[in-house]
Amino acid sequence: MENQEIFNRNYGAEPFLKWAGGKRQLLSAIEEHLPKKFKNYLEPFLGGGAAFFHLYNNGFLKNNMTLIDNNPELINSYITVKNDAEALIALLEEFKRSYVENPHDFYYELRNWDKQDKYGKRSSVERAARTIFLNKTCFNGLYRVNSKGFFNVPLGRYKNPNIFNRENILCVSEALKKVEIICDDFSVCLKTAKAGDFVYFDPPYFPISGTSCFTGYTKEEFGTEEQKKLRDTFAKLSCRGCFLMLSNSSADFIKNLYKDFNIYEVSAKRFINCVSEGRGPIKELLVTNY
Ligand SMILES: C[S@@+](CC[C@H](N)C(=O)[O-])C[C@H]1O[C@@H](n2cnc3c(N)ncnc32)[C@H](O)[C@@H]1O
Repeated sequence: MENQEIFNRNYGAEPFLKWAGGKRQLLSAIEEHLPKKFKNYLEPFLGGGAAFFHLYNNGFLKNNMTLIDNNPELINSYITVKNDAEALIALLEEFKRSYVENPHDFYYELRNWDKQDKYGKRSSVERAARTIFLNKTCFNGLYRVNSKGFFNVPLGRYKNPNIFNRENILCVSEALKKVEIICDDFSVCLKTAKAGDFVYFDPPYFPISGTSCFTGYTKEEFGTEEQKKLRDTFAKLSCRGCFLMLSNSSADFIKNLYKDFNIYEVSAKRFINCVSEGRGPIKELLVTNY
């Protein structure tokens, strides 16, 4: 049954989370600038994984694949989709029934789980279902936690939110079977990437003054020091002989950080932005070392 359902999909595995900074808009530019040939694939700022799913579906990823992010709830969701898709789908169905009865109360009940002592004892399936559910019903699909680490995004305004797609979860689960999924800082690539591997970095963007005020991973969490540390990681991996690609905003600070590499300006549409004028096409950067 499962295999038949996957077989019936005439398109591949797609992101199962909405993630701020999602790369859908840049996929053709990413594809255009791929290295001609590479060994293993590493993606250390996974988020919703738009680049990974696109490259996977289009047959670009032939060897080992490693997906990394430092958000434990996000990574738990990927690992659960990989290992426990049917149990996850069953719980999501249950959540959906409760939500339909009373969206407001059910949303806040689920949101409050992380304030309870027993949260640490919840199963990975429960935590993953909560993350996916909140992601699809919260305001703008944002991921934001307060200083205590509690998820604090309010309920979004949806009449009939598209929470999950059973066939897609099964299809993603199948795709992830061949993938190593790691919760860690991006710098873990220094331990694992080898000459000839391709690493795609999509960090939280450096703000362009006056335009970006969204962010679940705030300016403080990935500020200038982190951007410099990332550039140093990029430079070390480049010396090692890895193929590297990085996306970021077109801020002068970023252009200056990567001035020794190839910088391409590409056009993208931003969807999560607090000023409506910011929703038109804007210039972003793709940096490569090849
Ligand atoms: C711009 S988003 C990636 C978006 C993703 N490419 C997509 O298509 O949805 C940045 C991601 O980096 C993660 N992140 C932030 N700081 C990190 C760090 N120091 N190491 C690893 N991941 C980090 C965040 O959790 C977030 O998922």
